[in-house]
Amino acid sequence: MAESLIVDQNLSKEEKYKALVPQIEALVTGETDLIANLSNMMAALHHGMGFFWVGVYFNKEGQLVLGPFQGPIACTRIPYHKGVCGACYTRRETILVPDVEAFPGHIACSGDSKSEIVIPVIKNGEVKLVLDVDSDKLNDFDEVDQKYLEQLMKLVESWY
Ligand code: SME
Repeated sequence: MAESLIVDQNLSKEEKYKALVPQIEALVTGETDLIANLSNMMAALHHGMGFFWVGVYFNKEGQLVLGPFQGPIACTRIPYHKGVCGACYTRRETILVPDVEAFPGHIACSGDSKSEIVIPVIKNGEVKLVLDVDSDKLNDFDEVDQKYLEQLMKLVESWY
């Protein structure tokens, strides 16, 4: 296992993903524990991409429950019908929110969150978890984030 991640913070966003994704893949190779791998993946995304908040919510107990994350403390439980995470669970697709204030029902775990992307992991027809990434800048996520984060969530899907 690599001891540290190397991502030059002066690179463009896409170049950062291109540098980081193979390092994350190497980081989780040989380990099959879901929580251990997600924990390292969230730390790698937080530090490598400079995300304000990044974490997962598991589909369990009839709601979405906080899992491994990096960033400020967050809401622990989200009903399926609430927030961007709930909308992602219900629609079963990636949701990009350029301005959280304009998203009906958005849950503000942190008042500093301004934009957000949420991606589902679906296996055997069931949403297993959602990945939530928050930025403290407006309009901070686009199709580049969607492409590489969806690629990483395919990896997570393979652990189920
Ligand atoms: N904003 C999310 C809640 C989770 S926190 O941002 C970490 C939502 O609206 O579902």
